[in-house]
Amino acid sequence: MPPCPPSSSARIDLVLIGTRGQVGSAFRQQLAAQQAALGARAGLDLRLLATFDRRGLAFDLEGLPPAEVEARLRPYGEAEREALFARLREPAATPTVVVDCTAAEAIADRYPEWLAAGVGIATANKRANARPLAFYRRLRQLAQAQGAPYRFETTVGAAIPLLGPLQEIVLRGERVHSVQGVLSGSLSFLLERLHAGEAFSAALAEARRLGYTEPDPFEDLRAEDLARKLLVLARVAGFELENEALEVEPFCAPPPPQTNEAAFLAAEDRRWRAAIEAALAAGERYVMLAEVGSAGARVGLRRLPAQHPFAALPAGQNLVRIETELQQERPLWLGGPGAGPAITAAGVLGDVIAAASELRDRRYASRRFSVAA
Ligand SMILES: NC(=O)c1ccc[n+]([C@@H]2O[C@H](COP(=O)([O-])OP(=O)(O)OC[C@H]3O[C@@H](n4cnc5c(N)ncnc54)[C@H](OP(=O)(O)O)[C@@H]3O)[C@@H](O)[C@H]2O)c1
Repeated sequence: MPPCPPSSSARIDLVLIGTRGQVGSAFRQQLAAQQAALGARAGLDLRLLATFDRRGLAFDLEGLPPAEVEARLRPYGEAEREALFARLREPAATPTVVVDCTAAEAIADRYPEWLAAGVGIATANKRANARPLAFYRRLRQLAQAQGAPYRFETTVGAAIPLLGPLQEIVLRGERVHSVQGVLSGSLSFLLERLHAGEAFSAALAEARRLGYTEPDPFEDLRAEDLARKLLVLARVAGFELENEALEVEPFCAPPPPQTNEAAFLAAEDRRWRAAIEAALAAGERYVMLAEVGSAGARVGLRRLPAQHPFAALPAGQNLVRIETELQQERPLWLGGPGAGPAITAAGVLGDVIAAASELRDRRYASRRFSVAA
């Protein structure tokens, strides 16, 4: 039975990294809207102790107003940021959750020290879990040994409850046979436009204009981000893979250096037009599929019947099919919006609430045990 909640709300501090990013900004708005209600609803008094991005930092022992924090941000140096991190590691510090809304390797570098100090992490940043397997295992072990919540639900499929249910399947000892999914919003958008008859160059320009791709669209087209998602998904599902074990077929390989961009795009337009026409004539559509199973792990294009749930999926939606030893004939399907700052921030807030509740319950239980002893 979980320990009884204390009569008053438990204070848990938050440190938000990525203050003015898309997800970080949406997270601040949602935290501001929910902060007061979380006392009654969850017994939590969440305070924004500090927040920073690369350009500014704000700190307040009493808690910052999340929605109006921009005016409090001021330039800072490395020493100030390190003093903040040192504070988190102090044994007497208020239980804290670091909220990582960046895609920064430099922030992922710090996860081991935070978990080792019992600091919780709620992250939308998939970099840490897509590193070599030894690093991923170390994070999971530190989290378990130190009782530090480590939550990363939004790193695959945004706010779709996907990694949590998968983790539960694995914890209850049910072997996962395979996972397949459509997990890239930007590549699904491109495919939808191509199937509608648009030229590759026009679809790519539109995706860039709408902010669906990274500033360098080849980061999406090389399928590297999708490969990272598959690696995280596979590891959570119990396939302990190294990055090199993934077969990655790019959506479109970048042109060799010195290639004329217009000639490259014209060639891609012709290649895609022929491929799409052939698929449609056969009653099929292309999907960019990420899949892992006993045969290995692969990210790449597949042609599927147009009525297949993956092929009929509207752009912007993610869908995952999970087959386990108990769910073979009727596999588990999970789907929903796979990107967008507001929905992702909602998933991060969910992770923060879960992590903060865990820290509160642990602290309360340890007090109870020390009184009993
Ligand atoms: N957007 C989505 O729909 C979505 C969906 C699922 C997951 N995600 C993930 O969520 C994360 C954030 O995405 P986003 O779209 O919000 O990105 P974004 O708009 O580019 O924001 C990134 C933020 O991180 C900050 N940052 C970068 N490096 C930093 C560092 N070393 N130290 C401190 N701050 C740093 C940036 O600060 P500066 O502005 O000062 O550089 C900025 O505030 C990414 O990992 C992304 O993959 C996003």
